[in-house]
Amino acid sequence: MHAVGIVAAAGSGLRLGADRPKALVQLGGRALVCWAVDALRAGGVSDVVVAVPAHEQAAFATVLPLDVRLVAGGETRTASVRAALAAVTDPFRPAPDAVLVHDAARPLTPPAVIGRVLDALQAGARAVVPVLPVVDTTVVVGDDGVVTDAVPRGPLRRVQTPQGFDRATLVSAYDAIDLLPPGDGAAFTDDAAVVRTSGIPVMTGEGDERAAKITVAHDLAVAELQVRT
Ligand code: CTP
Ligand code: MG
Repeated sequence: MHAVGIVAAAGSGLRLGADRPKALVQLGGRALVCWAVDALRAGGVSDVVVAVPAHEQAAFATVLPLDVRLVAGGETRTASVRAALAAVTDPFRPAPDAVLVHDAARPLTPPAVIGRVLDALQAGARAVVPVLPVVDTTVVVGDDGVVTDAVPRGPLRRVQTPQGFDRATLVSAYDAIDLLPPGDGAAFTDDAAVVRTSGIPVMTGEGDERAAKITVAHDLAVAELQVRT
């Protein structure tokens, strides 16, 4: 099975509040996007396309390995992945069987997570996501700040990346959301949500706390501790 990796790295990182795009922020002396590409490669996915902010392509080309393909991302994560997917389906290259889509913001994803995603695809899953249980009590809060309901957390899961897909399934799901009324696709925060819109079952596998997403400054501080030990 030939799998291609897509790294979504075109976000600005508003919540982290750094002086540069989040994927270029340093962790242990290297840009987050470099860690994310290395994570995919350590897990067995060597052919990688990275979606980067349109005006920062030169800065990304300076830090990334030469054999990584760069494409200009878009305004939303969905638009960025779509741009990378177009490069993956380049008619002048052999079409891969599978695509793994990974966040640049998950730099320390262990190779075993990628291995489990690949194994599920090999076993016939058309879509698979790594998940972890929700450990905190989870409630619904009204506009007035008052708790209105408790959510039973037993069936709840937190979804991580890389998310794995049969390539043809992912491409047709992205084509299908083009046909949605304007605004309907605005809420896709991951690729499994795009695929689920086409009615494709999304399987789950075991995630890993170390694949946590770097969103706010505290997450980066935790990751710095991880790479030091
Ligand atoms: N992403 C992307 N293109 C966008 C927006 C996000 O490729 N237009 C990527 C980010 O680079 C990141 C991943 O999607 O690796 C997850 O998004 P998130 O953590 O929300 O990153 P940002 O959008 O950069 O951060 P923020 O929402 O705080 O601005
Ligand atoms: Mg974002």
